[in-house]
Amino acid sequence: MRILAYHVQPYEVKAIEKWSNDNNIEVVINKGLITAESIAEAKGFDGITTQQVIPVNDEEIFKTMKDFGLNQIASRTAGVDMFDLETAKKYGVAITNVPRYSPNAIAELAVSHAMQLLRNVKHIETAMKKGDFTWNKDLISKEIRSCVVGIIGTGRIGVTAAKLFKGLGAKVIGYDQIKNPDAEGVLEYRDNLDDLLKEADVISLHLPLVDSTYHLINKDNIKLLKKDAIVINTGRGALVNIDDIIEALEENRIAGAGIDVLECETLYVNQNIDLEKIKGTCVEKLMEMDNVVLTGHFAFFTETAVDNMVSTALNNIKNSIETGTIENCMNM
Ligand code: NAI
Repeated sequence: MRILAYHVQPYEVKAIEKWSNDNNIEVVINKGLITAESIAEAKGFDGITTQQVIPVNDEEIFKTMKDFGLNQIASRTAGVDMFDLETAKKYGVAITNVPRYSPNAIAELAVSHAMQLLRNVKHIETAMKKGDFTWNKDLISKEIRSCVVGIIGTGRIGVTAAKLFKGLGAKVIGYDQIKNPDAEGVLEYRDNLDDLLKEADVISLHLPLVDSTYHLINKDNIKLLKKDAIVINTGRGALVNIDDIIEALEENRIAGAGIDVLECETLYVNQNIDLEKIKGTCVEKLMEMDNVVLTGHFAFFTETAVDNMVSTALNNIKNSIETGTIENCMNM
């Protein structure tokens, strides 16, 4: 069996080589994208995989795959919105995904952001850079064990975050449309979002972005938050109205924000940009604020998560060739 891996990033190479050695299957690394031209390179391979945001929607790609006897593109991602699923189906090409990968990756960054904000790390660094090493009364912090942490969205990542916060001694409360049995003994559910927002010192969002969760946190309910509350968003940018968060931070109506995802993140995610591009945007503002910790969609970016993405995608190919059953298929 031979597999061609398209658009391989430097951080994926180790995981691909490991899977290849463990399974004794050749995986050829290709740095390019899948396009109508580059698909010709897949001739003679048994399976192909990619991870790309550039669309895979040219009919020629799927037509050529059919000619080569290739019936699957294994995406090394959770989302498959970059593929033309219907056209792929027309040519009998299954698009498979990686439905889940290390929830700890995201949960740990949420905890890390919360801890940095609670301990005023950015404020302390700014003062120290000016030579001020004093134990300023404004920099005294709470310990996490004296805090109530509110988890909004208690699915896989939310419950993992809850366990980590509880392990550090916090009281954890949760809100979700559906109660997760895995949350039993970890958190206490609140019946509505407002009750959670009023009670929590740290609020961490772990919901999907759908119509009903768009700008779930906005100026109307930010009013309910405690003055020293911290909001952490590692879910999706548009779960919060970031302008309303910034206004509340500037007016000291909340104490901090830990942000991994922003609605406007396509401006910069996984790119080396000219900083002029973000001048005057909320990104520039957030980077300058001492009560904000900002990371550019890095929550998933751990060795374990990348290993999970690579191995699940390659296993999707291996299993379909060996058993004829296509797992994690998104379009058939
Ligand atoms: P999940 O599906 O296991 O959990 C989501 C939870 O949200 C479910 O329990 C669901 O009932 C709840 N929910 C959905 N709509 C709701 C609403 N309107 N009100 C209350 N609860 C609602 O998903 P998982 O794996 O825990 O992921 C959560 C989110 O984390 C993803 O949707 C994604 O947006 C984000 N994520 C962020 C990453 C990053 O790198 N920053 C990486 C991976 C995921």
